[in-house]
Amino acid sequence: MNNRVVNALAAASVSALLFASFGGSAGAADPAEQVKDRQQTMKKLGGGMGAVAKFVKNEGATAEDAAKGAEAVLAVAAMDPKTIFPQGTAVGVADSAAKPELWQSWSVAQERWSAMKPAAEKLDAAIKGGDRAQIAQALGATSKTCGSCHEDFRVKKQ
Ligand code: HEC
Repeated sequence: MNNRVVNALAAASVSALLFASFGGSAGAADPAEQVKDRQQTMKKLGGGMGAVAKFVKNEGATAEDAAKGAEAVLAVAAMDPKTIFPQGTAVGVADSAAKPELWQSWSVAQERWSAMKPAAEKLDAAIKGGDRAQIAQALGATSKTCGSCHEDFRVKKQ
């Protein structure tokens, strides 16, 4: 191979590498995308909680639906809050409803995030136990962990 071909190949593979690494994170690095991702993640929490609530209220969800709902909440609760709330995604970016205080009081926000997991674990255990009253109680407790963060760090919808 002559030098020009070697150089061209090297350039191509370097740009392929760059493309690959940007390809993985380009969406996530865009603040508007990050807001959208977060809202999707929050919707998973909402959907999970909703499924459990429907089961508790006997509105058509099965115990299996409820178990899946609790698992969805657990899966999200296990995520690193830093990936969910990256810097630069407060109100003003796309339709973000995250108050700037969330980053200003980051340790509080992190605590609020961490409070979800033990609550969701109890919810999961209650669902596996099958006692509807206990499930309802654990659902309420988990929902409080959502509310305590929303109250302080989420802009109220008009
Ligand atoms: C550590 C803080 C925090 C916790 C804990 C939290 N949320 Fe949120 N949630 C937010 C913030 C901030 C927003 C606004 C996000 C945005 O607009 O970018 C939000 C938005 C939402 C939304 C609206 C998403 C949309 O489509 O705009 C739903 C639904 C939601 N949360 C459900 C939940 C549920 C259910 C839980 C508990 C299982 C929960 N959240 C726990 C901070 C939190």
